Amino acid sequence: MDNLIGKFKQHVVEVSKNPNFIHHDWFVEYHLNFVEKISLELCEKYPEADKSIVLILVWLHDYAKILDFSRQHDVVMFEKGREKLLELGFGKLCVDKVLEYLDLFEKKMEVDLRGAPIEVKIVSSADAASHLIGPFFAIYYKENANKTIPELMESNYNKLKKDWDRKIVLPEIKDAFKERHELFLEQVGDFPEKYL
Ligand SMILES: [Fe+2]
Repeated sequence: MDNLIGKFKQHVVEVSKNPNFIHHDWFVEYHLNFVEKISLELCEKYPEADKSIVLILVWLHDYAKILDFSRQHDVVMFEKGREKLLELGFGKLCVDKVLEYLDLFEKKMEVDLRGAPIEVKIVSSADAASHLIGPFFAIYYKENANKTIPELMESNYNKLKKDWDRKIVLPEIKDAFKERHELFLEQVGDFPEKYL
């Protein structure tokens, strides 16, 4: 299993470097690697989690976006992940389970992920937490430089809220990332009454 996961990870790393992918020069280093690292730390806190399922989800969760940014929400693109995992030799039961979990992961605005399987909670929380590390928000300003400053601030505010309220569902992440979250909220307009 570790070997298969390694192969899938290598494949995702490769396709992420495609210059047609808007995030190709930073996505592995400053997003996927952080999601993997935080997810593995969470697996230590939750030993009942199936680490293989967690790792497949880590490398799969943005696969559709990497392959075709404009069609990332199409069912066809969702199925590309299933096809690739089966092609690499993952068992059908495992692939069905991971895709079911990915579908749930994507439904965070409709479904309360606090009731989701632990593997989904881990990767969802790690995915959102990773946005609070490194250059993620700074990159957004660069990649959307055509927007006005108020528009940029508003979309980042909405993203911070969605990540915090819907995606981060594990207390360890809420505790560890609270100060980072508040700092980023201030940067997009949530100013305190006093500064001293
Ligand atoms: Fe992600």
